Amino acid sequence: MDDASYQEKLAGEAALWGRVAEEQAERVPPDWRYHRHLRHNAVVHARDIEALLAHITPGMKALELGCASGWLTLAMAQRGAAAQGMDISEGAIAVARAYYESIKDTVSGAVTYAVTDLNALDLPPAAYDVIAAKGVLHHLVRLEHVIDQVYAALKPGGLFWVSDTHGDESLPVTLLAGALTLALPTQVSYREKVRGLLRFGLRAPQRVKASIQADGLSPFEGAGRDQDWVALVRQRFAVERTARKPAMTGYVTAQFALPDRVAVPLLRALAVPDRWAVRLGLLRSTGVVLFARKDEGTP
Ligand SMILES: C[S@@+](CC[C@H](N)C(=O)[O-])C[C@H]1O[C@@H](n2cnc3c(N)ncnc32)[C@H](O)[C@@H]1O
Repeated sequence: MDDASYQEKLAGEAALWGRVAEEQAERVPPDWRYHRHLRHNAVVHARDIEALLAHITPGMKALELGCASGWLTLAMAQRGAAAQGMDISEGAIAVARAYYESIKDTVSGAVTYAVTDLNALDLPPAAYDVIAAKGVLHHLVRLEHVIDQVYAALKPGGLFWVSDTHGDESLPVTLLAGALTLALPTQVSYREKVRGLLRFGLRAPQRVKASIQADGLSPFEGAGRDQDWVALVRQRFAVERTARKPAMTGYVTAQFALPDRVAVPLLRALAVPDRWAVRLGLLRSTGVVLFARKDEGTP
């Protein structure tokens, strides 16, 4: 891809995530105290995010890559860190800055935000205690460069926390997720679902897979999917903990049409056998969380 097309695509990426951040901030403030109750967090992500936040102590220097509206950067500052958030989306960063300004006096740490293209990341060496990246690596085309930068920018013993998708959805997961979303009430009516099944026939699993992988959601959606970020992190860091998300519950969570008070307990119940199936190796989950340490002895 030449530079002009890259920049054009990146502008589209930034604009889209800016709109998403603005729309979401109209419904819920970009603050973990509220975001933790959002359905996808309550069902799938909260425990891994709380585990990251448990590592943050006052005075730490923290960085978030792909911070969007800044709720995770802010959560690290609320635990006393000097936290920096980076994202390509000016709109999302504007949302993050405006919210931080509005509650700044209540935050024990401090926050700064920067509009940055992570594919051209240029960080100071040995500067951070913690670097977090949630849901952003699979949008990046220069993953090796980014992971090298993260490694160099962490202090010895520093933590790199990543939560992202890894690899392709397997056929069993696609079929089970498809069957569940067919049977359960979702934003798509049963009539539409039956029509879709008849129209796509044997190609239906491919459609479900594309939907799980959010293909086409943003210009760089899945751009990093063919690069093995887990292997790249493992080559450089000592991985002290790997957590696997449930294999299908995340997708069903996004589709389920019932109100939260009914849906959240049901989805949490679904997540239990789902997590066990992943643990026992019966289903492959593409949702991976790594807690990776830079060697204590490496400057
Ligand atoms: C799926 S969203 C995740 C946002 C946030 N981390 C979260 O979990 O709510 C992906 C984010 O990555 C950002 N992003 C995508 N490509 C980027 C790039 N090249 N440089 C910086 N940020 C990028 C987008 O603007 C968007 O905010």
